[in-house]
Amino acid sequence: MGGMMEKKAINPLLEQQMPTIIVTGGAGFIGTNFIRHLLDIRPGWRIVNLDALTYAGNAANLADVAPARYRFVRGDIGDETLVRGLLAEERPQAVVNFAAESHVDRSIVGPLAFVETNVLATARLLLACRNDWEEKGRPADFRFLHVSTDEVFGSLGPEGYFTETTAYDPSSPYSASKAASDHLVRAWQRTYGFPALVTNCSNNYGPYQFPEKLIPLMILNIVEEKELPVYGDGRNVRDWLYVIDHCEALATVLEKGVPGETYNIGGGAERANIDVVHQLCDLLDERLGRGPDRSSRSLIRHVSDRPGHDRRYAIDAGKIQRELGWRPRFAFEQALAATVDWYLAHGPWVDSVRSGEYRKWIDLNYGATRARADIN
Ligand code: NAD
Ligand code: TYD
Repeated sequence: MGGMMEKKAINPLLEQQMPTIIVTGGAGFIGTNFIRHLLDIRPGWRIVNLDALTYAGNAANLADVAPARYRFVRGDIGDETLVRGLLAEERPQAVVNFAAESHVDRSIVGPLAFVETNVLATARLLLACRNDWEEKGRPADFRFLHVSTDEVFGSLGPEGYFTETTAYDPSSPYSASKAASDHLVRAWQRTYGFPALVTNCSNNYGPYQFPEKLIPLMILNIVEEKELPVYGDGRNVRDWLYVIDHCEALATVLEKGVPGETYNIGGGAERANIDVVHQLCDLLDERLGRGPDRSSRSLIRHVSDRPGHDRRYAIDAGKIQRELGWRPRFAFEQALAATVDWYLAHGPWVDSVRSGEYRKWIDLNYGATRARADIN
């Protein structure tokens, strides 16, 4: 018995016959990659994807997944009745929460949607999950994994790294709302003993990312020979992680992480935005046969800076490496090239996500409201 308990604590999910995992926000960028990855590495697992399908969600991302192991449910994480029903019906071994409003620039234009989803709806999801967990007699093998961001820590100077003990100091409505959700998850763990884990990851890139974020936006603008809007001086630094590395880290935390703990996840690939944009220009020029006389770098425009723009993010991923044995597998240069190739090969996906709503956002963010700066 003692031995069994010990084994369960290490990896309870692998002991189930066919574990069911509820993934929220699984029709978005990271959720899509996570579901595909988990179904691939864990052939015995089944996934239920609960997603409200906001502008950022696309159920077609997973249309080809075998229905025997995958179910899509359209709904809001803040709908307690729906979530309670789903938990009762599916009896999942884990809930992995990706559902969120996720774009800093949108949070500057319309912060309330971020409070509603990332704070209130997350609290409702926690209520529903904890009540279900209590009613089922606090199953020892249940896990709630909350996927968060390094942006909760605010901005770094030129030195240093975010660790799990760095104080939260969010700058944007997005990061403040994610910080609030992390606090709620930890409160549920400390107050109710709810078996929750939190991960804080750096900037992701890879397939299925909505083209409002830096890397896919730049790829598509370069292809279409549109201007490349670089905020401020372009020297803001992000610590880039290929999305599959993030998915592997999340699977590791789900299986081996200790409830109540937080794990920082990062790629150790710090790059200034302008350097990323230069790399993308060069990768695409090579693929599109544009010579030096037509270099896409000439499309770069320095535009007015993002208000409250964090200067530098960098993760110390020592804890997850030491305690859980995860480390990133993909080098930035190769994975960036693979990402460029994915977007070039998926024109119909790009067309389908760039709807009328997307056009409105581009006009709002890059039109008259973001006048060109005189830095260039
Ligand atoms: P995304 O915007 O691509 O996807 C979010 C998904 O959540 C969408 O499918 C959307 O329809 C869904 N959703 C939104 N509100 C919902 C609600 N109330 N109920 C149910 N579904 C809802 O975001 P992403 O980039 O895939 O990020 C996923 C998570 O990872 C977020 O919590 C984000 O904060 C976190 N994160 C992202 C990054 C990154 O670089 N993208 C880095 C670290 C952490
Ligand atoms: P983004 O992809 O929005 O991620 P985050 O704000 O969560 O880090 O932006 C990454 C960096 O790129 C950030 O420093 C802002 C900058 N950026 C631009 O310079 N131009 C753009 O058009 C966008 C979308 C971002």
